[in-house]
Amino acid sequence: MLVAGTESTSSVVEWAMAELLKHPRIMKKAEEELEEVVGLNNMVEESHLPKLHYLHAVVKEVLRLHPPAPFLVPRCPSASCTVGGFMVPKASKVMVNAWAIQRDPMVWDNPLEFQPERFLRSGRDEYDFNGKDFRYIPFGSGRRVCVGIPMAERMVPYLLASVLHSFQWKLPNGVELDMSDKFGLELKKARPLFAIPSHRLSDLTLYN
Ligand code: HEM
Repeated sequence: MLVAGTESTSSVVEWAMAELLKHPRIMKKAEEELEEVVGLNNMVEESHLPKLHYLHAVVKEVLRLHPPAPFLVPRCPSASCTVGGFMVPKASKVMVNAWAIQRDPMVWDNPLEFQPERFLRSGRDEYDFNGKDFRYIPFGSGRRVCVGIPMAERMVPYLLASVLHSFQWKLPNGVELDMSDKFGLELKKARPLFAIPSHRLSDLTLYN
């Protein structure tokens, strides 16, 4: 649980901050929602999370473009079977490429663009990440689906909302944002994000 839950969570928050720094319009919208729901004289608390609809859409879009486990966990069928017209022999190792599915232009409009709004346009249950919608499986699917979903869907928005709301972020002068990734069983940023915070809350005692 520690191995599966630590890097995945921090990687999603890091990618989210990188995407927000790359897209100032989206960063501003997320900040405005936080100002309205939380207020600049308050810290983010868990009770605010259900009201942060735009922030949740940002998290979903990050999980679509940068799933921490791009091939999920390998499967091994106990009997030969046919899936989508392909014969899968018993005992073969099957990798499901969630990363490619979540960028498939047959399924997604402008798949390479970072557009959290796509998750607000769709109905509430569409693109649910519990593994029932095979277009969107950042937590996998079936009986080995991620057991940490209830924790991840609280931790990731809570961490992201806290760092966004408490600080104004910018890149160091002259530094270009590097969005390249290291592809493998885990998908990470190739170079860690380096960004500079300054205070954002009106009541400075909140930082004590
Ligand atoms: C944003 C955060 C996370 C993402 C994107 C994520 C994603 C995944 C994925 C894709 C799988 C494989 C599912 C499959 O192959 O069908 C998985 C498995 C697993 N995850 Fe997560 N995870 C996250 C957070 C967590 C957390 C916080 C925990 C624990 C507290 C956790 C615990 C596990 C465990 C134990 C498994 C193995 C389940 C099994 O094989 O039965 N994960 N996760």
